[in-house]
Amino acid sequence: PPKPNIAPSMLASDFANLESEAKRMVSCGADSLHMDIMDGHFVPNITMGAPVIKSLRKHTDVLLDCHMMVSNPEQWVDDFAKSGASMYCFHVEATSDPSALIDKIHAAGMKAGMAVKPKTPVDVVFPVADKLDQVLIMTVEPGFGGQKFMADCIPKVEVLRGRYPNLDIQVDGGIGPDNIDIAAAAGANVIVAGTSVFGAESPKAAIEKLRTSVLT
Ligand code: DX5
Ligand code: ZN
Repeated sequence: PPKPNIAPSMLASDFANLESEAKRMVSCGADSLHMDIMDGHFVPNITMGAPVIKSLRKHTDVLLDCHMMVSNPEQWVDDFAKSGASMYCFHVEATSDPSALIDKIHAAGMKAGMAVKPKTPVDVVFPVADKLDQVLIMTVEPGFGGQKFMADCIPKVEVLRGRYPNLDIQVDGGIGPDNIDIAAAAGANVIVAGTSVFGAESPKAAIEKLRTSVLT
């Protein structure tokens, strides 16, 4: 099975100190950093765009996993590639041609991920699974950090793991020590956690707990 990848969500960090927050998470054992990009249109919230990724990239080599909660995801591929994004994870609900978008992302030199909202059936993944570097199964409605984990999304993870033993399967939304075992047992190996890591007394211990759960 694929390796664990623990990705703190920088949405829960102090945006005024993004450099130190990013370095703090890497020193606490983060494998990658999850960057929530929201455009106020695909979701009812605005966060950051490519200029912020470009600024942060100057201070770290860590994998920057950009979760694109945007309409028209085709529009930002080149900007994010130039800014130093490692992974461009678009929402399947936001495009009419996922396959062409994946090709565009790869041609720009990034890894391609595809995110699936809670109400979207998992079947949308099947036609493009072979070309994807990662699938993101949302466990909350995208738009805000700090929401409650939706356990009813987890069967989708199980279905994907059954069909694709080597696929990187990411879960995102409301994940923490209390529910990580459910997601990990279903086969998720890329774990996003915002509130539970940044709010922990020891972020390092929180990250370790998530990793241990994926490994067991
Ligand atoms: C929600 C975002 C998540 C969020 C996770 O729209 O995609 O990445 O930041 O934060 P927590 O872990 O607090 O739910
Ligand atoms: Zn996210």
